[in-house]
Amino acid sequence: MTITIVGHGYVGLVTACVFADFGNQVNVIGHTQEKINRLNSGDPIIYEPGLKELLQKNLSAKRINFTLDFEKPISESDIVFITVGTPPKINGEADLSAVITVAHEIAKSLKKGFTVVSCKSTVPLGTNKKIEEIINKNKSAGTEFAVASCPEFLREGTALKDTLLPDRIIIGSESDKAKEVLINLHKPIGGKRVITNLASAELIKYASNSILATKISFANLISFYCEKTGGDVETVLDGVGLDHRTGRNFLFPGLGYGGSCFPKDVKALLAIGNNLGVDTSLLKAVEEINKQAKENMIEKIIKFSPGKNIAVWGLSFKPDTDDIREAPALYIINLLIKKGFGIKAFDPVAMENVKKSFKGNINFVNDQYEAVKDSDALFIATEWNEFKQIDLNKVKSLLKSPVIFDGRNIYEPITMKELGFKYYSVGRI
Ligand code: UDX
Repeated sequence: MTITIVGHGYVGLVTACVFADFGNQVNVIGHTQEKINRLNSGDPIIYEPGLKELLQKNLSAKRINFTLDFEKPISESDIVFITVGTPPKINGEADLSAVITVAHEIAKSLKKGFTVVSCKSTVPLGTNKKIEEIINKNKSAGTEFAVASCPEFLREGTALKDTLLPDRIIIGSESDKAKEVLINLHKPIGGKRVITNLASAELIKYASNSILATKISFANLISFYCEKTGGDVETVLDGVGLDHRTGRNFLFPGLGYGGSCFPKDVKALLAIGNNLGVDTSLLKAVEEINKQAKENMIEKIIKFSPGKNIAVWGLSFKPDTDDIREAPALYIINLLIKKGFGIKAFDPVAMENVKKSFKGNINFVNDQYEAVKDSDALFIATEWNEFKQIDLNKVKSLLKSPVIFDGRNIYEPITMKELGFKYYSVGRI
């Protein structure tokens, strides 16, 4: 098949490389010449394990190409995926301006014949109908198309694996022909199929991200109880998670959820609920607890740090990504700087992104040990693997005082005590 993907972020680029690898001809449309050049030369721009190799393999095989042009790729395509960003507006609603612009471009470029237009961007209920209306109004006579919602569930850091072996593929459309095209396209990919209408597919995406965010906030809520009662949150959640109806996944407490999806999608589902007159108090509580998780860590640092020079390990919103959108680390660092703290930080891949966009003053260093050298305390903000079995005796000898604030519970409190650290983690005494 010939496929066009509009947008080359995590979803667009990973989807493009995977479908190209199956032998499809894939065009990817972007809007900056510099980025298009980098992508065509084999640089994926974003950091995602395995992506560079897959991109380069498919560029060499001439199955994937990147362009600014809409007309030619779309006129030749059986399927057009929209994967542009839908960032939150100030009121929490998703900003659909990029999706709408793209719908107009698609309308102008559609070929005669049948094209499926499928939105993989997370969009509020009814957006696919809006896309359909725009294309219908602006397309040339004789062109045939149908819209479909095909939401994406990949996680950053494991995006390729998630795309090749997903739990499920969701295909929502009012058109049987569109459903058939998408069912065929996804044949080489694992996972169960849910074939449904547009509204259900759109809602599945928001509901999926919101229930995972709810689990995380629930874990953080239980950590607040543990801190007041002397319980150990990891043991409590092990006990809870062994019930197969609940499971342990996404029940890890810490600094709250960040990234480009959960914060935005919970906000958007809230805004949708408010517009529809649905009670959104559960989602409001999820957001409130998520904020509280970060505030609690800030309080601990302010209260227990022996001085104001803090080393920070990890800046990305989670390990194995250079993505710093809604990273709890940066929220906390920002507040600490306002309170007069000095920050020396290390992250294995995200420092360049922080340098580009973070306004406050951070002293960036090249490794973990350099960060702790002469700092008053260490704050672990992201659970990168390289921090998990680090030489803690060396860390202790480099720190001015043996104090660690661990926002991700990567060490055992008992071991830390034996090593002589004052160790403040989440939901564990
Ligand atoms: C998420 C969804 O998992 C994915 O299906 C969707 O397509 C996009 O959004 P992603 O944002 O890449 O993926 O990361 P994920 O691994 O889900 O983590 C999101 C945030 O939750 C991170 O900040 C992470 O640190 C936090 N988290 C996750 C917890 O605090 N506790 C957990 O138990 C799990």
